[in-house]
Amino acid sequence: MPATVVVGAQWGDEGKGKIVDLLAQRSDVVCRYQGGPNAGHTIIVDGETYKIRQTPSGVISGKSSVIGGGCVVDPEVLIGELDELEARGIDTSVVVLSGNAHLIMPWHIAIDQASERRLGKLQIGTTRRGIGPAYADKASRLGIRVQDVLDAKILRQKIEVALAEKNVWLERVYEVEPIDLEQAAAQYESYAQRLRPIVGDTSLLVDEALRAGKEVLFEGAQGTLLDLDHGTYPFVTSSNPVASGAATGVGIGPTRIDRVIGVAKAYVTRVGEGPLPSEIEGADQARVQELGGEFGTVTGRVRRCGWLDLVALRYAVRVNGITSLALTKLDVLSDFAELPVCVAYRLRDDSETPHFPAHQSDFHHARPVWQSLPGWQQPLDRASSRDDLPDAARRYVEFVERGLDVPVELVGVGAARERVLV
Ligand code: IMP
Repeated sequence: MPATVVVGAQWGDEGKGKIVDLLAQRSDVVCRYQGGPNAGHTIIVDGETYKIRQTPSGVISGKSSVIGGGCVVDPEVLIGELDELEARGIDTSVVVLSGNAHLIMPWHIAIDQASERRLGKLQIGTTRRGIGPAYADKASRLGIRVQDVLDAKILRQKIEVALAEKNVWLERVYEVEPIDLEQAAAQYESYAQRLRPIVGDTSLLVDEALRAGKEVLFEGAQGTLLDLDHGTYPFVTSSNPVASGAATGVGIGPTRIDRVIGVAKAYVTRVGEGPLPSEIEGADQARVQELGGEFGTVTGRVRRCGWLDLVALRYAVRVNGITSLALTKLDVLSDFAELPVCVAYRLRDDSETPHFPAHQSDFHHARPVWQSLPGWQQPLDRASSRDDLPDAARRYVEFVERGLDVPVELVGVGAARERVLV
């Protein structure tokens, strides 16, 4: 089973970094296929915590680490990360960056921030890292790609063309400072020196690895419900985190993917705006936030918490073709006597559905239908396999498997790499 996609099955922050880090131990290549520095992956190894946003998690284990053409790259963030990892003794020569990946430019960040401010109460709640504007320019064919920085003349020309339009927007529409051409060109030319040695043909690299029978891991950022096409639009990111995004984002055919592991928390969280039907009411919300450390890696924002939503997960199984699940942070639920699980949605006409509504108004008005499961009310730190879990915890996991008809292959019971039960 050489090609495995690891995909977020909820609204991001499912603990993919840790699962990818674990699976990376037996992989040869780890690829990021979409997103940019809006993702925050936290990996804890031997008591050391690594928080990375732009570099594939495989770098921590010294695996060939690919940033595919479907990603957007903030060179300042990437270079900063590579330097920090090197300073901490991690070899970053394993990182290969696609020349087709688009660059996040200073105007993307300025526009993301200004447009969110302007939207006021209607804001998306983006990470304000320039992600949406960078993908928008990619689609408008105004984008600047990694390969463009390799030629100073092309780079300057492209920046000039882009700025002729962007500065009008910045000054007249958003009423903020324009971007200086000379400064931007000089800044990105200096990034070129550092990026040049890591630029490569990542599609070819992955194809050759797969042909040689190597294990390749595709690491999704964000999650299914933040997918531009399949998520809860417009409260989504601007790329395709779903598993099929791995094929387009890296440049291989969909037939090459062998399995898809969906990563889901044992509850749900969401940052940014948009509906969250199973949102926890009352004091339990703050308890889960605190117990789960639910504060954003990138923005520090507190994450809204909900009980596990099987309707949303069932949808994730469908749109990703999930073949097995990793259920993370089960230990966070250890305190609760009862654990409500959302098993269906009640719609406006009072009907119940096990399926995720196809229309936004149905979803916005959906109310959870709960089934309550008994809690285990004891720590899970002694369990070293799924069979060692307290009865109620094991039943909780089995309930998820039955509800989705997908096996739970991995169960996360603590922050460290070794706290994942197989
Ligand atoms: P953007 O990706 O910065 O444009 O933000 C769009 C939406 O995706 C917002 O609701 C963000 O909070 C959310 N988002 C982006 N990246 C992540 C992530 O890594 N985890 C969780 N939510 C994210």
